[in-house]
Amino acid sequence: MSKLHVIDHPMIQHKLTIMRDKETGSKDFRQLLEEISLLMGYEITRDIPLEDVEIETPICKMTAKKVSGRKLAIVPILRAGMGMVEGLHTLVPVAKVGHIGLYRNETTHEPVVYYCKLPEDIQKRLVIVTDPMLATGGSACDAVKMLKDRGCKNIRLMCLVAAPEGIAKVQKEHPDVDIYVAAVDDHLNADAYIVPGLGDAGDRIFGTK
Ligand code: PRP
Ligand code: URA
Repeated sequence: MSKLHVIDHPMIQHKLTIMRDKETGSKDFRQLLEEISLLMGYEITRDIPLEDVEIETPICKMTAKKVSGRKLAIVPILRAGMGMVEGLHTLVPVAKVGHIGLYRNETTHEPVVYYCKLPEDIQKRLVIVTDPMLATGGSACDAVKMLKDRGCKNIRLMCLVAAPEGIAKVQKEHPDVDIYVAAVDDHLNADAYIVPGLGDAGDRIFGTK
C-alpha cells in the first residue's frame, strides 16, 4: 500500500491555520501555499539519490555530493495545483513542469479532463503531482492514471489538506503512489467539500469568488 506522509512541522501547521481562516485574502493565501509547498518539498525529496563528484574548492580537492539519476517533473492539477508549483520550483529550479486540467462536475463530483501537456521525457522522471485538496480523490486518481498511461512509473502526490475518503481511494487505485499531506481532516460534506478544510482552493488562490 502507498505510504501516507503527514508533514506536520510546526511552521506548516501555523501557515495552514492562517490559510484555513476565511478572513485570509487571496494574496496571503497564495503566498502561504507557496511557502508551505517549499517546506513540503524538503520532505518529498528527502530520499532522492546522490552521487559522488570530484570538485576543487578554493582550498583543496574534495569528493562531494550531487543529485544523481532521476530528474524531477512537477505536474499541477489545474487550477489549484498551480499554487504549489513556485515553491517546489524554488527548491528544484531545473524541474520540468507538465499540466493536467481537471475540474469536478458540480453535481456528480466526477472529474472532467480538459487539458494535458507534459514534458516529452516525463516517463524517465520522478513526477510530483500537486493539488492542495484531496477530497473524494477522483481528480488525483485520474491524473495519476493519465501519467501511468504515458509510461510514468515514479509518481508522488503532494496535497495540502486531505479527507480520509480521498486517501483511501488513492491507496486502493494507486498503491504504488506515496501521498504527502500537511493535514488529514475529518470528513467530506454532502457537496464533497473537505470539513473543516479551507473552502474552494482554486477560488481562494485566484480570487474568483
Ligand atoms: C478541486 C481541487 C481538486 C479537486 C479535489 O478542483 O483543486 O483538483 O477539486 O476534489 P476531488 O478529490 O473530489 O476530485 P476543482 O474541481 O474545484 O477545480 P479548480 O481547481 O479548477 O477550481
Ligand atoms: N475542492 C476544493 O477546492 N475544496 C474542497 O474542500 C474539496 C474540493
